[in-house]
Amino acid sequence: SSTVTVVSLREMKRNRERIVMLTAYDYPSAKIADEAGVDMILVGDSLGMVVLGYESTLPVTLDDMIHHTKAVTRGAKRAFVVTDMPFLTYHGTIEDALRSAGRIMQEGLAKAVKIEGGAELAPLIRRCTQAGIPVVGHIGLTPQSVHQLGGYKVQGKTPEAAQKLLDDALALEEAGAFALVMECVPKQLAELISHKLSIPTIGIGAGAGCDGQVLVYHDILSYGGGRVPKFVKQYADAGSLIKQAIAQYAAEVRSGAFPAAEHTFTMKEETLERLYG
Ligand code: KIV
Ligand code: NA
Repeated sequence: SSTVTVVSLREMKRNRERIVMLTAYDYPSAKIADEAGVDMILVGDSLGMVVLGYESTLPVTLDDMIHHTKAVTRGAKRAFVVTDMPFLTYHGTIEDALRSAGRIMQEGLAKAVKIEGGAELAPLIRRCTQAGIPVVGHIGLTPQSVHQLGGYKVQGKTPEAAQKLLDDALALEEAGAFALVMECVPKQLAELISHKLSIPTIGIGAGAGCDGQVLVYHDILSYGGGRVPKFVKQYADAGSLIKQAIAQYAAEVRSGAFPAAEHTFTMKEETLERLYG
């Protein structure tokens, strides 16, 4: 089917077609996700944790994000690629933030950027949108603020917190965000916000009432990491499969079973005789 755009994503919401988003961080993960029919690929700053081995997303740099985005956009033919702006790259002046977003688009060839936060981001979203940079919002659990939030916890559970998330969602849409990620919020609140907005909502730990869902590539495949959050469903055990394959390779090298004749090159007997003199 045809290439995904901001226009087709809005249409999907109108037609009540659920949007499938998955993270990817390199060429093969993007190619596989794209070929499997994922609508949106997120180059998430979760790459800091799942592919770079950091404890949080905070150490991830703009150059890291651009490097991985370049690989992902080479692998994604149909899917719409969104890249996270990393920690502290959009909290200074609007000019600085715009320049950083611009690098993600020009060097990484992403089609949009995602930023974590509420109504305070409205002026930046307005400027990006005016400059031709589509923006995805991200509210609820915002991992770049983990130290401010006091851990990875469900957000919006009190009446005041729920009202703030609703107000933020409306402000982000009003400012021009074309989609909104909601992470770790009660399903009733996510459903309410999804009804109030005309832009698509993409949930992660936000229940089935969102217009789409996003999960982390390595989480759904059980590839590399340890324990996964409650909201993850593991669809394969790639980690075990890969470990088993590597262990077999190691065993065959040690036993001499690998390489076999079919993995080996040979030369003519006469050539060999001349070498021996
Ligand atoms: O970085 C990421 O992978 C994300 C998603 C989990 C929404 O922001
Ligand atoms: Na992220």
